[in-house]
Amino acid sequence: MPHTEREELTPEESDQLLLLPGGYPPLWNHMDSIGSVGLRQREGAPGCSQEGLPCPSDSSELVLECLQQFKVTKTQLRQIQASLLGSMEQALGGQTSPASAVRMLPTYVGSTPHGTEQGDFVVLELGATGASLRVLWVTLVGIEGHRMEPRSQEFVIPPEVMLGPGQQLFDFAAHCLSEFLDALPVDKEGLQLGFSFSFPCHQTGLDRSTLISWTKGFRCSGVEGHDVVQLLRDAIKRQGAYSIDVVAVVNDTVGTMMGCEPGVGPCEVGLVVDTGTNACYMEEARHVAVLDEDRGRVCVSVEWGSFSDDGVLGPVLTTFDHALDRESLNPGAQRFEKMIGGLYLGELVRLVLAHLAQRGVLFGGCTSPALLSHGSILLEHVAEMKDPLAGAARVHAILRDLGLSVGASDAELVQYVCAAVFTRAARLCAAALAAVLARLQHSREQQVLQIAVATGGRVFERHPSFLSILQETVMLLAPECDVSFIPSVDGGGQGVAMVTAVAARLAAHRRLLEETLAPFRLDHEQLAAVRAQMREAMVKGLRGEASSLRMLPTYVRATPDGTERGDFLALDLGGTNFRVLLVRVTAGGVKITSQVYSIPEYVAQGSGQQLFDHIVDCIVDFQQKQGLSGQSLPLGFTFSFPCRQLGLDQGILLNWTKGFNASDCEGQDVVCLLREAIGRRQAVELNVVAIVNDTVGTMMSCGYEDPRCEVGLIVGTGTNACYMEELQNVAAVPGDSGHMCINMEWGAFGDDGSLDLLRTCFDANVDQASINPGKQSFEKMISGMYLGEIVRHILLHLTSLGVLFRGQPTQRLQTRDIFKTKFLSEIESDSLALRQVRAILEDLGLSLTSDDALMVLEVCQAVSQRAAQLCGAGVAAVVEKIRENRGLEELTVSVGVDGTLYKLHPHFSSLVAATVRELAPRCVVTFLQSEDGSGKGAALVTAVACRLAQMAHV
Ligand code: G6P
Ligand code: BGC
Ligand code: BGC
Repeated sequence: MPHTEREELTPEESDQLLLLPGGYPPLWNHMDSIGSVGLRQREGAPGCSQEGLPCPSDSSELVLECLQQFKVTKTQLRQIQASLLGSMEQALGGQTSPASAVRMLPTYVGSTPHGTEQGDFVVLELGATGASLRVLWVTLVGIEGHRMEPRSQEFVIPPEVMLGPGQQLFDFAAHCLSEFLDALPVDKEGLQLGFSFSFPCHQTGLDRSTLISWTKGFRCSGVEGHDVVQLLRDAIKRQGAYSIDVVAVVNDTVGTMMGCEPGVGPCEVGLVVDTGTNACYMEEARHVAVLDEDRGRVCVSVEWGSFSDDGVLGPVLTTFDHALDRESLNPGAQRFEKMIGGLYLGELVRLVLAHLAQRGVLFGGCTSPALLSHGSILLEHVAEMKDPLAGAARVHAILRDLGLSVGASDAELVQYVCAAVFTRAARLCAAALAAVLARLQHSREQQVLQIAVATGGRVFERHPSFLSILQETVMLLAPECDVSFIPSVDGGGQGVAMVTAVAARLAAHRRLLEETLAPFRLDHEQLAAVRAQMREAMVKGLRGEASSLRMLPTYVRATPDGTERGDFLALDLGGTNFRVLLVRVTAGGVKITSQVYSIPEYVAQGSGQQLFDHIVDCIVDFQQKQGLSGQSLPLGFTFSFPCRQLGLDQGILLNWTKGFNASDCEGQDVVCLLREAIGRRQAVELNVVAIVNDTVGTMMSCGYEDPRCEVGLIVGTGTNACYMEELQNVAAVPGDSGHMCINMEWGAFGDDGSLDLLRTCFDANVDQASINPGKQSFEKMISGMYLGEIVRHILLHLTSLGVLFRGQPTQRLQTRDIFKTKFLSEIESDSLALRQVRAILEDLGLSLTSDDALMVLEVCQAVSQRAAQLCGAGVAAVVEKIRENRGLEELTVSVGVDGTLYKLHPHFSSLVAATVRELAPRCVVTFLQSEDGSGKGAALVTAVACRLAQMAHV
């Protein structure tokens, strides 16, 4: 039941929580004296209230009513804790409407310091301490080294800079930087800087952070919505005195947490109360919806300053809070911060004192211009005045400076006001911290939580009572949490340097990663050159001149016209699976029954006889299962290897590819080899009518649905393409009218060195380790049999550079073919990418950080993107050839595609299509994924052959 009115206190509650911390005599002891003070008012004096002094009982009422407003009950603190926790979990879940009161911003800090960080770093702190910025020179000495005291300098920021154009602020910061560095014996080059920027920011990386909104007295124009790291980099460049690399930006709470004294930490919560207030903590990454990460922890900046759940804060907000907010730079925002932050406590006290003075309760009912002017009472004043011991004297001194004459009991009353405002701040801060502790208990499923909280900010540094009130209240609100409070070393400067060291290491790793992947990033010129070189090789191959493209006639002259009919057997050898198919072609369409059989490696690399006997065994097994034994159906043989065909049913194997290496086959007519194997098998009769390449089978199979399909493309274990060429351009086949399907065997493109400019050392590693080094260059940069290996070699290289896996390769990662190409498809799947990376690499015995996971994802993306672009450049060359063959301004054509990589990789097909659009803009190309594989195509080629044969006999 929300608290509406200020409810009655149970005695113990009122005792426990009466406005003031220990050391203060109960207020009512003084109540009767308050009234009497007023009597001394000076009638008619300027700044003094005219309507006469309140009677004693009224003034005590007034004082009590005033101070009562700052009372926060235990129940209210619990409600604030619960509501804040609710908002935190809402924001973590990514729920945006209703906008949760707190922001929960991931900071890209994934681990607390290892302590191994070393090096010299410049730290720039802006925003934590209000109208000043601080520059530090921090030397990290790692675990062994002796801690070096950082050198630092504070610079006051002129008010016009805090409220002026953003560029002015960043130029001011850059100026302070060089002024500070000028005083140090340091190089002007290669300095690394950590930027502590204490405002709510959306971070997209350790060095990319966009300001959401200013807080705490800052309101520079042209900064909100901008990347503050870039603004600082630009200002440093404009300054031109030093070349400083801004490698990390952190919120001051993160610097505080990371700056936890080694040995006592690690601290997993960073709590700052300075001009503003906020906290960060290490959350389980899987609970942060915006992060695609399921392991490890990430530091989240709560930004609780914007907590403003009117339901629970409404009853706690006083009229003075509303007045302060109205006059602030950001009315309506940071309401919670304005009750806790050091920038506001002085102002709250001033407003209360002014109110009581104007009501004649204080200073004889007299105010002063200073008392009525904004910001005239600072946090320091409050802290000094509220000190039970020395405070009274300070009250007199401070208020005299404000032009006020302070009566005897005025001082005490002022102290009560200071204490009430201060205590409420500490208690509210405690409620917020208790919410973070409850969140940690939830996310770690721990009933009893032991945690170290790093504290930072001048409220903690200069006013120890704030911490004791906070501690006392946290114990009340989170009794099951064992919390140790650790003051942060030099206000977080060390912590910022730690994060900077981590960022510097990651930035160096990123540079090495970019250098390693740069050769995989092909630009338009390079791709256009591949298209042109392929075109040239096609023409040479068709003419029978030396070319890495054999451009093999397939004796398929037409795509199906839909009149084909009958039952056909088909074999599909050369892809991931060997299949035997029964293809029934009727008027109603094509019905396929198939069975997958494996080709063990020892058979694929055994003797040719063994291989073909194995094929016939499978056919016989299939016929038995399909009740076809003894039937001699026309058979179409999809044989996905380079064959020089002399006819539809004659194909001389030129060389094996894709891991096949059966002996005594190259140079042989594989149809004969099959027929001989059939011959060796008693009682089996098969009528081998046609041998087709899988590209041709795929084109025919898709052509059956779409007659514009005149190109066949395979991107699977291997890669290749075929297309319908003008017969007149095919030197090897007589005739100059009509078309002939040409099997390009583009896998071998570049075997003549024409791709060497693009080949990387990783391609060379893969080629050397293959069973056909120097062969199938294009295929080895594109197809499924090789992409995984390319990635594995890159990962080994990056591990050797210390960029990945802390430089520790595992035995398994050094195992050939252990990184399957299908991993790329899984890893690059938009959803769960990093989780996939982690799952796959942990299976390979690798323990990895989230940065490792990200880099592995980028390696996979670079390798598959290059493959898809090269494939697209090849298709562009083919469709452009067809368009020019036909002298068309624009060509509309379809490409039948098959192959596991093309079908399963999440982005491959769209990257191929995009590259074709870019390199063949005058061709409208539709890619048709073949549903039934090329076995159907082989059957259709057989059906066409049978139809033509029947017509020939008629
Ligand atoms: C389909 C076709 C085969 C082709 C294969 C290529 O399965 O039916 O003829 O060889 O795709 O892809 P893969 O990924 O299996 O190598
Ligand atoms: C900012 C936080 C910062 C806190 C303490 C708040 O105003 O929004 O980002 O951590 O002040 O400096
Ligand atoms: C073969 C081609 C085949 C391609 C796709 C290549 O290795 O040489 O004949 O079309 O793989 O399977």
